Amino acid sequence: MLTPYALSTDGRATPLGIDETTPLLSWRLASGRNGDVQTAYRIQVTEDGLPRWDTGRVFSSENANIAWDGPALRSGTRYHWRVTVWNADGEESGGADSWFETALLHPDEWAGVWIDRNPDVHPPFDPPVVDDLTDRTRHLPAVPHLRRSFTVSEAPTRARLYATARGVYEASLNGTKIGDRELAPGWTEYATRILYQTYDVTDLLTAGENVLGAVVADGWWSGFVGFDSRHQAQHYGDAPQFLAQLVLEFADGSTRTIATDAGWVEHPGAIRYADLLMGQYEDASRALSGWDTPGYDASGWLPVRVHGRPDNLVAEPDEPIRVTEELHPVSITTLGDGRHLVDFGQNMVGRVRLTIRGAKTGQRIRLRHAEVLEGGELYLANLRTAEATDVYLAAGGATEVFEPRFTFHGFRYVEVVGYPGLLHAQDVVGRVLHSDTPFTGTFECDDETVNRLVGNIRWGQRGNWVSVPTDCPQRDERLGWLADAQIFAPTAMRNADVQAFFARWLADVRAAATSEGAFPDIAPKVAMLTEGAPAWGDGGVILPWLLYQVYGDLRTLERSYDSMTAWVDHVHRHNPDLIWRHRAGNNYGDWLQVDAETPRELLATAYFARSAALIARAARVIKKDPTPYEELHARIKDAFNEAFVEDDGRVVGDTQTGYLLALAFDLLPEHLIESAAARLADDVEKRDTHLTTGFVGVALLCPTLAEHGRADLAYGLLHQDTYPSWGYSIVHGATTIWERWDGWTADRGFQAAQMNSFNHYSLGSIGEWLYGGVAGIGQAPTSAGYRNLVLRPTVGGRLGFARATQETVRGRIASGWRLAGGEVVVDVEIPPGSTADLLIPTADPASVRAAEGADGVTGPAIRDSEPTAGGLLVRLGSGTYRFTAQPPTPSRKGH
Ligand code: BGC
Repeated sequence: MLTPYALSTDGRATPLGIDETTPLLSWRLASGRNGDVQTAYRIQVTEDGLPRWDTGRVFSSENANIAWDGPALRSGTRYHWRVTVWNADGEESGGADSWFETALLHPDEWAGVWIDRNPDVHPPFDPPVVDDLTDRTRHLPAVPHLRRSFTVSEAPTRARLYATARGVYEASLNGTKIGDRELAPGWTEYATRILYQTYDVTDLLTAGENVLGAVVADGWWSGFVGFDSRHQAQHYGDAPQFLAQLVLEFADGSTRTIATDAGWVEHPGAIRYADLLMGQYEDASRALSGWDTPGYDASGWLPVRVHGRPDNLVAEPDEPIRVTEELHPVSITTLGDGRHLVDFGQNMVGRVRLTIRGAKTGQRIRLRHAEVLEGGELYLANLRTAEATDVYLAAGGATEVFEPRFTFHGFRYVEVVGYPGLLHAQDVVGRVLHSDTPFTGTFECDDETVNRLVGNIRWGQRGNWVSVPTDCPQRDERLGWLADAQIFAPTAMRNADVQAFFARWLADVRAAATSEGAFPDIAPKVAMLTEGAPAWGDGGVILPWLLYQVYGDLRTLERSYDSMTAWVDHVHRHNPDLIWRHRAGNNYGDWLQVDAETPRELLATAYFARSAALIARAARVIKKDPTPYEELHARIKDAFNEAFVEDDGRVVGDTQTGYLLALAFDLLPEHLIESAAARLADDVEKRDTHLTTGFVGVALLCPTLAEHGRADLAYGLLHQDTYPSWGYSIVHGATTIWERWDGWTADRGFQAAQMNSFNHYSLGSIGEWLYGGVAGIGQAPTSAGYRNLVLRPTVGGRLGFARATQETVRGRIASGWRLAGGEVVVDVEIPPGSTADLLIPTADPASVRAAEGADGVTGPAIRDSEPTAGGLLVRLGSGTYRFTAQPPTPSRKGH
């Protein structure tokens, strides 16, 4: 039976608190029968059991991103929705249910005002017992605790807390932390928009006295962010503020709202300071025991300062940051002087939870974090000014637990100083945190180094998805660089469902554009206040397009379209001869390339052409006139060839990235493609199967080689383990993707400490080829949301099998192959409603056999087949299929 599953609203399972007025409803489809398709759906929406919207039976095969078209949504309301689908035989599915709940849809519904510590009435925080603060941290404010007590005569039947901060906050009710978010409200272009969170707190309230509390730290608002030494902190304000409103509904229909106002009081507590880059300092003897519970004597607390009403709040539209996993040490080494060195075996992002037993009052325990070791000690130089140090002054109890809450570090190793006695493995836990996007893709094969690479890519994605897609999680940077994001996005979209995450961040990218239309290098924009560079600013065009292609997300494409055209128009305006030389911002070129120098104007112009082409495609999709951008694209292409391509197919600079851009962005005339591809392959070969590509070129490398008949070289690069290569980092212990090919080399040791992160995802963009090339999951050029699949598994390299799965907006896709008993066995799974052109790799198309139950090569769901270069092309409807065939002849050179 055709079954809808994984229902979602705006890309999330059951979002509590949205403010989209036309949310997008989606479901995925599964079926046990080959050839199944959805031919109709019906969405029925109820509120409190009463019908609110019914689409009736809609004859459509669409199952994703159906925009709300019912009556206007009301605030604070839960809408239950049910979808029923029909297949081609008119059979009705059982239906599936989901819900979403609206938050506050109208700005005037906000009763709360911003509040913070009143600096005029507050005595300064006493210096800690040991004055061990650094110059950077000495001036950081003690973290305010805010509370409001109130009484209700009966428990409410429904209660919602809407809350946010200029800073980062944790709210509590009657002593219980509300929800499982970390570092809320996350980071957006604060001047334009701040997210707020909605919590169902019904179960936390009781009749009688209740206490709503909040702890608010600097976070991105007033803490250290980025590397600009002239402006390293206080980018948005000088102290954190809080805003909330608690809406209570009672059995008799009455309501009551408790909002942030002058009735709140404030007191500093144990946290002397908390900063994202510097760390957290806690003096446990100052803990305010019971401060957020009823009956607490708050007489020494001082009234808060009251600010204005909020005017730029947006309901959180994507998954928040959460702790998603705990790691345990693989070793703990005693270093002498009472120091312990903890190794988690994995470069991770988050923090440590330390259990301390039998410490004396005031005993100082210090945790420092590092990604790598040098001579058996932490290598800290690459953190630059980020102190990444947490300090705990013990209260002196039998057992105490220290876990910093308002900071995060990128680390594999932790040095613990001052721990009483021996540190045991069960007392130190690595708490992994990141924006909790669901991981929906898998890739595996029988080569352990490739599997480790896949793991490194995934860890890089997790660790750098901390509210914004960051470049790195450890040093004083952690910024949303657009190039890093656009280069890695195709891989990220294979690994995880990042539709809502990118859609939200793209609003910040748009907000950060200049009035002339230039996208920035980074968003939110706190540094590099220049116009975006080629391949960096272009992220503002490429990402909305990718969201459409991968998720069928038209809404983000529509919302981004004007900013996309403004960007390309801006570049065009300043470069009328169509070679992008002017207004190229910091023009980074093929950032961190090795032993090659791709001409910057060439790279820039290729990206100019690419963005124009994507806008033309977007225009067609959203029904605008594509002609101006099609023409512009054709003219840029001519200019590119004129300036950078010689008659024999040589591309100026003669670098791998130069050829890759020309080929992958389709910039060459037909007759030069083959010779350009041959030159690319020659360059890889003459370097004994090594690459020279930096951030920009690397994503194109393996796919382009394979596309032009050199899968052998793509595999050769994948399996390479001498410098420079992915394998080289793995041989030398990498558990994440390094920023630079030469982050550490046997000859030279560490690269310059000023820029040497061991957790940057850009060079991990090869993940796209593992899914798309090796396992072979792709889509036709005009397909969106995996409607028309092109499956081209690539047998090669050292692999005996490879397999990928992806949960897509359509449903589950799988593709894999295995060499067994002198045959190649190809297994694929195509979701209902999708079709696939599968190229079965074989030396003899006549040898292809469909396995039992797969309907035979000419069965109903196998539409037809034809021999073609490289194998047999089979056209398939949805379903699960297995084929066996003679294996393909090894391409060019075996590896
Ligand atoms: C960042 C990047 C970024 C680059 C710009 C670096 O500091 O870490 O990943 O893209 O600057 O060139």
